[in-house]
Amino acid sequence: MFGKKYNDFLKMVVYQIYPRSFKDANGDGIGDLRGIIEKLDYLKELGINAIWICPCFKSPQADNGYDISDYCDIDPEFGNMEDIKELINEAHNRDIKVLMDLVANHTSSEHKWFKESKKSKNNPYSDYYYWYDEPQTDWQAMWGGSAWEYSNERNQYYLHHYDITMPDLNWDNPKVREEFNKIVDFWSNFGVDGFRCDVIHEISKDLKNNIMSMGPHIHEYINGLFGRPEVEHLFTVGECWVWNEESFCKLTKEERKELSTMFQFQHISFGRDGKYTPKPQSLTELRDILSHWQSVSYKNDLLYTLFTDNHDQPYFISRAGDTKNKRYELATCIATMFYTLRGIPFIYQGQEFGSLASEFDSIDDFRDIGAINYYNDYLEEFGKEKVLQQLNFGSRDNARHPVAWDGSEFNGFSDVEPWIPLSSNNKEINLKKDCESEKSIFKFYKSILKLRKENDEIVYGELKILSRPEDTYWVFERSYNGGKIVVCCNFEEENNIIIPYKNAKLLLSNNIDRKDASNNYSAYEVAIYRI
Ligand code: GLC
Ligand code: CA
Repeated sequence: MFGKKYNDFLKMVVYQIYPRSFKDANGDGIGDLRGIIEKLDYLKELGINAIWICPCFKSPQADNGYDISDYCDIDPEFGNMEDIKELINEAHNRDIKVLMDLVANHTSSEHKWFKESKKSKNNPYSDYYYWYDEPQTDWQAMWGGSAWEYSNERNQYYLHHYDITMPDLNWDNPKVREEFNKIVDFWSNFGVDGFRCDVIHEISKDLKNNIMSMGPHIHEYINGLFGRPEVEHLFTVGECWVWNEESFCKLTKEERKELSTMFQFQHISFGRDGKYTPKPQSLTELRDILSHWQSVSYKNDLLYTLFTDNHDQPYFISRAGDTKNKRYELATCIATMFYTLRGIPFIYQGQEFGSLASEFDSIDDFRDIGAINYYNDYLEEFGKEKVLQQLNFGSRDNARHPVAWDGSEFNGFSDVEPWIPLSSNNKEINLKKDCESEKSIFKFYKSILKLRKENDEIVYGELKILSRPEDTYWVFERSYNGGKIVVCCNFEEENNIIIPYKNAKLLLSNNIDRKDASNNYSAYEVAIYRI
């Protein structure tokens, strides 16, 4: 049983915005906060009630804003403090909550703390980061090379799990923890409703024992940050790359006052072998992962996050099935599999009209440091064609192309050439074209979110799976207060599916010809019934 706070959170539907690529309001080719304000009515129409904005703070933009040089100011590329104030007000006027991205594991090397820290071993900021005479571990940085970098200025090495310009903060230093209390308080007082917490499982480390994340003080530090009475009402979702049930419980159980929930990433590897190689898989495997984590969530009373996409993964449907002939059916089938379960739906920009990965034939079309470093590291080994093929499949840029609002010259994103090329398929796949189609993914998203809003069974209900593990489809019911909803998701093959209730009334299907619970289901067909 959830308490009131978590029951309220269950009603949230979050839309994730990557501000650089969402909407450019001032015509410089870079998306910005005023662009988000322009699109709030659109988001309201879609049916979401919260937005998570990826970092828009002051930053040299080495990692598109995840390298922050001032946590309490807005980067001029995105706007200013007035703009964020107006954005929060305008969102709140529409009953939309605003979540910011809190990057606590590292700063930019341009942050004042680091600039001071590297000056000497004895100044107020010396211990804000991990400094040693020799590398303490053999850790590799995320985008290649050692995680230790030498500073000529201080004559010591510092730790950076990400780019060289993103030094890891030393959370064992109470002053660092105090700084983050202040940052959270600042934005909370400013009016934000919560945070998405970037790789927060990494803030406690144990160098001696080679522990890079989920270190000995992780729960203490997170609770110390978010469990304080003045901020414990905030909604927090952790980006936590942990796979076990126990950690999930400890990090997110309501009474522990750490995080409200976290992203569970097991299904993110669906359809691929490592980051860059496709692996054909059946949706039955996705179903099994989802049902496992649903049972974990019910058994332990955990809030679960229902997401397929974010700014670090190419659009999910690109690797989940037949997007050539059945993009609409696949996109709506996956939306149904996720958004009729118990948890908090997250929708990443562009996902709601079925965006796909791009195809580019030059490294000049890529922007992500991860992609560019990968190209340079593997060009010789794999050859140009293969590396580009891999990047086209798996690069993070494949979720970062400007949102294709329409098929015009710059896709309605900007009046000028954007900072990153438009997606290669933008003439075929854009919001305007989608909405004109009889098979509109956007309209289906609208309908399913409306259904969630209007049927408490989907938000709060108990889950009972009716199909058998060997079936190549998924049927489950959600029951609440005497009401019952049955969800039926068929996968790659046609199937005869019997709904074991006589009085099933159709609420929604992605098959426009479906009128009732007759049992022949085509590939990726879904139907939702009220019993
Ligand atoms: C997270 C972000 C990613 C970023 C990294 C370092 O994984 O989602 O975009 O590069 O942390 O901050
Ligand atoms: Ca702009």
